[in-house]
Amino acid sequence: MEAVQTEPLKKRHSILIVDDEESILNAFRRILAEEDYDVHTASNGMEALDKLRSAEKPFSLIISDQRMPVMNGVQFFAAAKEISPDAVRILLTGYADTDAIIDAINKGGIHLYFNKPWREEELLTHIRQSLYKSELLMENKRLIEMIKSQNEELLDLNKTLEEKVKQKTSDLLAKAEELKASYERAQIILDGTVKTMSKIVETRDPYTSGHEVMVAVIACKIAQEMGLTSEQIEAIQISATLHDIGKISVPSEILTKPGKLTDLEMEIIRTHCRVAYDILKTINFPYPVADIVLQHHERMDGSGYPQGLKGGAIMLEARIIATADVIEAMASHRPYRPAQGVDIALEEIVKYKGKLYDSDVVDACVRIYEAEGENAFLQEENSISVDRHPFPANT
Ligand SMILES: [Fe+2]
Repeated sequence: MEAVQTEPLKKRHSILIVDDEESILNAFRRILAEEDYDVHTASNGMEALDKLRSAEKPFSLIISDQRMPVMNGVQFFAAAKEISPDAVRILLTGYADTDAIIDAINKGGIHLYFNKPWREEELLTHIRQSLYKSELLMENKRLIEMIKSQNEELLDLNKTLEEKVKQKTSDLLAKAEELKASYERAQIILDGTVKTMSKIVETRDPYTSGHEVMVAVIACKIAQEMGLTSEQIEAIQISATLHDIGKISVPSEILTKPGKLTDLEMEIIRTHCRVAYDILKTINFPYPVADIVLQHHERMDGSGYPQGLKGGAIMLEARIIATADVIEAMASHRPYRPAQGVDIALEEIVKYKGKLYDSDVVDACVRIYEAEGENAFLQEENSISVDRHPFPANT
């Protein structure tokens, strides 16, 4: 792109006088001597055109005689206009040159003409005005060029910016897709890991096979009834599925003993909450799974274990799992005893509502029971769908 003049013009004007009479050229030199112009002269059109072509800076004003050898004024201006289109052109004519004047206007694009002989003051005034007008035109042209150039730069900048934004957006979308796929893979691995860990415990105590998964189903149902968030419900599902994992450290003979347990055996059983906590705290779950599992045998009045926590000190998720644990244990069939039934389980939790079990949790269980009857808590593992924490939130 051509360099654009950005500074206002403050120039010394160059003037070219073309006449075959040396006396005329001298007259101009004298008239313009007091003015701050660069005055150049030529004695014919060809010489003048050469000067126009080789000039270091463009001429602001060209004054030419009409009657000259080699080429006349009209012919000269027609060619000069092509070389110096911005120069002001003045023709000097005799009184009888009307046709030449018309030709000069039409073909040479002259701005003014003067009849010889001229009045010096009048000629000088016109030269000054013409140059002033030329300055204004040049300034106007410079400003237009500057605006045009700046607009082009802005357009280029916008185009570059648009391309960059487009590329960045495309990169981000690809990254988001990658992360989403990675997140979904991680969820599948997490689900599989949690279920596998749960199955390992069941191999130690086949009598309670399916207990943890069923507690998870019931606990999630209660959580949904209570209007918990999808994150809380997901935390409950994982924690409930793993809530008895600490029993891995309890001897099978104790876990499967059909009769009443001794105090020592009970003490050993009770260690399963702490053992579970120690196992789970090393895993970086997206939820406080280890803490929830640690508290699943706590009771509202502080009579639970292992910490004897009371009321609100027990996490809501743990209070829900504790209630679901009791319902499942009482409502389900065991090889060594028949199922006591959902209604007996409900009676139990209502009886100890606010004392052992959270009142809001019990109320939610009652609502579920009233709506669905005896089969309310005896459902298949997949009957409760847990909304996974969405990723990313807005896609
Ligand atoms: Fe337990």
